[in-house]
Amino acid sequence: MSAPLRRTDADHRPQPRSRLRRLAWGGALLAVALGALAAWRVSTTPDAKTLPPLAMADARQIEEGRALYAQHCAACHGVKLEGEPDWRQRKPSGRLPAPPHDDSGHTWHHPDEVLLEITRKGMRAPIAPEGYESDMPGFEGVLSEAQIRAVLGYIASRWSERSRAHQARVERAWREAGS
Ligand code: HEC
Repeated sequence: MSAPLRRTDADHRPQPRSRLRRLAWGGALLAVALGALAAWRVSTTPDAKTLPPLAMADARQIEEGRALYAQHCAACHGVKLEGEPDWRQRKPSGRLPAPPHDDSGHTWHHPDEVLLEITRKGMRAPIAPEGYESDMPGFEGVLSEAQIRAVLGYIASRWSERSRAHQARVERAWREAGS
């Protein structure tokens, strides 16, 4: 396929295809998340950069996380971290189903602090746009910070080497940014 040398009007026409819109939405969501996190991370999470990355959880944390996952997350995200069936399709309520936490999802695309904050507070601003509606509950007050780290450490322990390497790069970039 060769790219046209000159742009035509067709290049600028809006393309109302839902797949494109979903992609754009995903990108927008992430941009909002990163911008908002960049703004507040220093004040709210002073140890975010000093604690070891989630993916370095030790065997004891992973075991604790496995049990917590079964009890608190598996009902929505799947016993095998496989997510809800048809997790890319919005439900009749307009909300998104729970995505997988294994390689087939996108949990491993995010730096630790994004995963921690979604698990603490649920999928809402500032990670999501203001007013965004989601079925992802917040676990602050239900699980301790150590338990939240353990459950995410367990999830990370289930990623392939490739996904772990990718997430490690994302995490490194996050830790180096703005410091
Ligand atoms: C009641 C169902 C439900 C339970 C229980 C639940 N989740 Fe979720 N979770 C969701 C939904 C739905 C989403 C997608 C939210 C959205 O995009 O609107 C989600 C998204 C997430 C995300 C973001 C993933 C990504 O790649 O964007 C993380 C991280 C997460 N959940 C962690 C957890 C953890 C850890 C637990 C258990 C401690 C848990 N969830 C329990 C429904 C649930």
